[in-house]
Amino acid sequence: MQLVSEDIIYVGVDDKQIDLFEGMYNVPRGVTYNSYVIKDKKTAVVDTVDAAFEKEWLKNVEKALGGAQPDYLIVQHMEPDHSACIAAFVKKYPQVTVVGNKSTFVMLEEFFGKDVADNRMVVNDGGELSLGKHELKFVFAPMVHWPEVMFTYDKTLSLLFSADAFGKFGASDDDGGWTDEARRYYIGIVGKYGAQVKGVLSKLSAYPLTTVAPLHGPVLSGDALASAVQSYVKWSGYEPETDGTLIAYTSVYGHTKKAALLLAEELESKGEQVKVVDLARDDWAECVAQAFRYSKLVIATTTYNAEIFPAAREFIDRLVERNYQNHTVAFVENGTWAPVCAKQMRARFEKCKNLTFAQTEVKIRAALNAESEAQIKALAAELNSLGK
Ligand code: FEO
Repeated sequence: MQLVSEDIIYVGVDDKQIDLFEGMYNVPRGVTYNSYVIKDKKTAVVDTVDAAFEKEWLKNVEKALGGAQPDYLIVQHMEPDHSACIAAFVKKYPQVTVVGNKSTFVMLEEFFGKDVADNRMVVNDGGELSLGKHELKFVFAPMVHWPEVMFTYDKTLSLLFSADAFGKFGASDDDGGWTDEARRYYIGIVGKYGAQVKGVLSKLSAYPLTTVAPLHGPVLSGDALASAVQSYVKWSGYEPETDGTLIAYTSVYGHTKKAALLLAEELESKGEQVKVVDLARDDWAECVAQAFRYSKLVIATTTYNAEIFPAAREFIDRLVERNYQNHTVAFVENGTWAPVCAKQMRARFEKCKNLTFAQTEVKIRAALNAESEAQIKALAAELNSLGK
């Protein structure tokens, strides 16, 4: 059994069979659903797991309890990747008290019906629960990323059970590090709610933190925790992490790709850090995360059905719905007979706050020529002159 501390036992599971997380995110290295048992005078289980792992999880919990009966099931988040096994748990341990807030129990009944869980403890923000040695405090974290979410702070260990916050994609054997898959997870799933994440980070600043135990990914402490908190401060403030340019293109016959690569070459020759992605082929959530990461974004695409080429249009919508802001944006438009996509792209970004649009417009008619190549060089010079 994996220990988080001498009396906190990890009882989560790895999901390596999943095709799409939340029905939309590719997770080629799987994902974990974390759950924890706190053994004390009173015993608490923190969250459950996805329905596909009910048996495995119940077995893990039984083993961790070592014959004891659980006193509390703390429900930090009602999204089914964590809550799906509540009814089965209550059926197995009918004396258990389910701990949640008012909104938790509304959702609990929506998912499982009115009769689930006779024994309930409704807690308020800042409410406390003593297990004996472990003194727990509940810190509400609405919209991180559902309205009922609450964190559980173990005052005895300065340990925070952080629900989805600080989580990442990747099963427990994923050796790709924390940042990239945590960024893709955060921007994709919680990106829209930066203000709420900032709010809860500010609430947490009053609490000493030595360990964070999220509902996905590894338990964090030491330098890894400090670095994760720094990332969350940046991400929740929509601050770019990297001074450089993301060039996101679509290309039907290769001409727009050629323009994107020429722009990348020009920028690199000026010492700019550049990343190029193909919006039709590369993972969409990674493209979106990289757009938040880099300080400047260039979208190079074509007109299609008198609209923006679909993969580029979806990409912009995904940025806008996640409150994309504080970045510089430029467009490279390609069209053979009636190009309209540059105008439409700009219009689609109108709801975004604090975007700076490049002055230089690049217009390609079908294929690059001397005029459009000169525009690309001018755009590279302008982007380079903007710095971060
Ligand atoms: Fe991991 Fe919002 O559920």
